Amino acid sequence: MTGQATRRMQAGPVRIGVTGIGIMGSNHARVLSGLPDAELVAVADPDQEQAQRVASFLGCKAVGDHHALLDLGLDAVVVAAPTHLHHPIALDVIAAGCSVLVEKPVASTTEEGREIIAAAREKGVTLMVGHVERFNPAVRAVKDAIRGENLLSIAITRVGPFPPRMSNVGVVIDLAVHDIDLIRWFTESDIVEVQPQTSAALAEREDIALLQFRTASGVLAHINTNWLTPFKARTVHVATSKKYVIGDLLTRQVTEHFDYRPDGSYSTRHLPVAYAEPLRAELENFLSAVRAGRPPEVTGEEGVASLEIAMSCLPGASAAQTARRRAVG
Ligand SMILES: NC(=O)c1ccc[n+]([C@@H]2O[C@H](COP(=O)([O-])OP(=O)(O)OC[C@H]3O[C@@H](n4cnc5c(N)ncnc54)[C@H](O)[C@@H]3O)[C@@H](O)[C@H]2O)c1
Repeated sequence: MTGQATRRMQAGPVRIGVTGIGIMGSNHARVLSGLPDAELVAVADPDQEQAQRVASFLGCKAVGDHHALLDLGLDAVVVAAPTHLHHPIALDVIAAGCSVLVEKPVASTTEEGREIIAAAREKGVTLMVGHVERFNPAVRAVKDAIRGENLLSIAITRVGPFPPRMSNVGVVIDLAVHDIDLIRWFTESDIVEVQPQTSAALAEREDIALLQFRTASGVLAHINTNWLTPFKARTVHVATSKKYVIGDLLTRQVTEHFDYRPDGSYSTRHLPVAYAEPLRAELENFLSAVRAGRPPEVTGEEGVASLEIAMSCLPGASAAQTARRRAVG
């Protein structure tokens, strides 16, 4: 780590700003304003009315863009602007010697993502990607329940209605990327085979996807995601050779079924799930990584690896990409 990280380890709260104060950025700013390890200095958005509204509510400054944010002498910045802007903004933030938490997906392309990683490494600053679902206590409970087990399959459902504002990405890059990250994290293995089915039923880009994967460790995985369901549902089912774990990521109920007997009976246990706001846990992890100069829970490399799998599921992805994954496996 460079002098930037060293300075942080000795100083008080991390001086931080948020750029892109829409739905996600407002949440980051709200949580940061209540964290003892952070000093929320300012929020930035070209929509000055929105930036001003959030800033006056949270008691920080409002500025028009990340350049003005960086002029305030920060230690770290959260980038929650639209995805196509992650790359240029993150590079500017890193060039100024600041650590950066980039919302998911890390960038629009894997090349851009790799450039962000290289820049952060070169400058010696912390780079984290906002795969917030990893910090969902129900996801943590599933991870604990399957630790050390012989994993066989994972099925994840993430469905709901169309988002209020459509961005320029479809459901695979917007939603499935969360679950690709979870599959890689649960299995601690790379995805080597991809069998995607996608369709643009009502939107310009894919709005419904059924994605199948095989990991290098031999686990089969399935993602069912769409924007065509009137209600939100987020569930994870994991089959191991000894138990079947079901997690509801919205109600945060996690149950395991085990001890299967020849008469068809089995045991069921509801697992304890901690109470925690996932975004708060994510930001605490980022701040402690910045202060300690150690890697955060979700690194840039992991963000790019999940983006690469998601991109290989898109209708335009070449057969060569899928074949390359098979060859790796
Ligand atoms: N981790 C999650 O669960 C999660 C959830 C939602 C969104 N996201 C991600 O967060 C990002 C933002 O999504 P959102 O839903 O909050 O979008 P949004 O449209 O609600 O907000 C984006 C904001 O960025 C602002 N903006 C535009 N140009 C800008 C610029 N040059 N500099 C700074 N701000 C600029 C817009 O004015 C807007 O206020 C996306 O990358 C998205 O994928 C992550």
